[in-house]
Amino acid sequence: MGKQLAGFNLALSRITDLLNSDQKPVEKLESMIGICSQSLGIRGCSLMLLDAQKKRLVHMVARGLSERYLRKGFVEVDRSLPEVMEGKVVKVADVATDPRVQFRDLAAEEHIVSIIGVPVKLKGEVVGSLRAYCRTRREFTQAEEAFLMTVANLVAFVLETARLTVEQRRTVETAAPSEIPSTISSSLRPSVFAHPSEEEFAHLLDFYQIDWVYEPRSFPIEWKDGKVSEMFTPDFYLPTLGLYVEMTTLKPGSTKDKKHKIRRLREIYPEVNVKLLARRDYDRLLAKYGHGPLAGSKTKGIGRILFSPEQIQARVRLLAREISEDYEGRRPLMVGVLRGVFCFMADLMRYLNVPVEMDFMAISYYGSQAGSAVRITKDLDLNPEGRHIILIEDIVDTGLTLAFVLAHLRSRRPASLAVCTLLDKKVNRLADVTVTYSGFEVPDEFVVGYGLDFNEEYRNLPFIALLRENQGDTRIDKA
Ligand code: IMP
Repeated sequence: MGKQLAGFNLALSRITDLLNSDQKPVEKLESMIGICSQSLGIRGCSLMLLDAQKKRLVHMVARGLSERYLRKGFVEVDRSLPEVMEGKVVKVADVATDPRVQFRDLAAEEHIVSIIGVPVKLKGEVVGSLRAYCRTRREFTQAEEAFLMTVANLVAFVLETARLTVEQRRTVETAAPSEIPSTISSSLRPSVFAHPSEEEFAHLLDFYQIDWVYEPRSFPIEWKDGKVSEMFTPDFYLPTLGLYVEMTTLKPGSTKDKKHKIRRLREIYPEVNVKLLARRDYDRLLAKYGHGPLAGSKTKGIGRILFSPEQIQARVRLLAREISEDYEGRRPLMVGVLRGVFCFMADLMRYLNVPVEMDFMAISYYGSQAGSAVRITKDLDLNPEGRHIILIEDIVDTGLTLAFVLAHLRSRRPASLAVCTLLDKKVNRLADVTVTYSGFEVPDEFVVGYGLDFNEEYRNLPFIALLRENQGDTRIDKA
């Protein structure tokens, strides 16, 4: 016993040294978990944090557990050692028979026999759980429990300081710090992304202040002889949108494989909302703003024409007719989000036969020098309160821009708010936005012309076309 206490003292002194070091928060947590396992002489430890909805626990760091076990699925707060979330310590002597363990079969396959879970509390509020796993049956002692509780407190300290630094930085950089969500998961970032596009995507989500978790969960999708033979791990989970995002790769055949996996996932887990984001198209969008792996790459010009000037005019005329009918007797205020929208808006207005007013907004775009978070750089000149607003967009892609603009307009209490977009790239949609009027649906490819640009080029084209790829690109030109 005395030896064990001496071991705990030594462990805590190593941990306090760590806290005072210049390691990154995630590295500190990883080392702490390692020290914890070592001094308890057990199989492994893990730290899980609550997601934004406070319904699930997401593994943040772990030691001594297989990838498969870690990616077993979201740990539901009310199905996995639920009393921990009430601030209590839970000891499970026999995992195989205890109903408080959510993934009993997988734990058995992992040869876990006993578990202890302690709450991680930040200023009195439970924000996660520290767990220790044993290969042999173990009744954890009071001293072990006290040691884990102390480590959990030190973990909370790391979380708090990590969050503070992130928030301080953001406060300086952004115009509206009060709007910044501050869930803990977003303040701890993985040190390694599988692909630069994923890291860039994480930055984009940060720009739009959308919380994310990287590779949060693996879903079993195939079984053989009663055992899981294939798993699928989406790249991101966006808790506030309740959405998993998988990015396509450029490897031949891989997109097909991913599509198949996503189909299986949807069949087996119909409640799971998952999107496949076309990495190529997305890289083009970033490149347009001077970011991402394709930044600075030159295009060979224009590829296939999707919509001719005549087709565009015919469609815009029809949209105008629809809007005129819907707004008969009213005087809507058309709001354009600069700059790509100018051709479309100019044509649409001229086909309308109800009186309209118009105004423009501009927002900072990803990669601009104006700050690290999206913000309005030009607000409306007219007062939108009590007005029937029609927001005009050139293209809705992920919907992140639109969601931000809509939230802003809603806060200014219009009588009604509708969205009219010329192009709708539905396949790439992340934010759940309602589009009332839509001109054309476009595939997950980068399009230019009729106001839409790539690196400020091609806006003046009278048609809408795909970009032609340069030599270094692997995608085949469809022209
Ligand atoms: P979202 O926020 O992803 O929906 O993107 C909206 C903005 O990204 C649009 O207003 C465009 O400026 C730009 N964008 C998205 N897709 C394309 C494209 O294919 N070509 C040109 N610009 C695009």
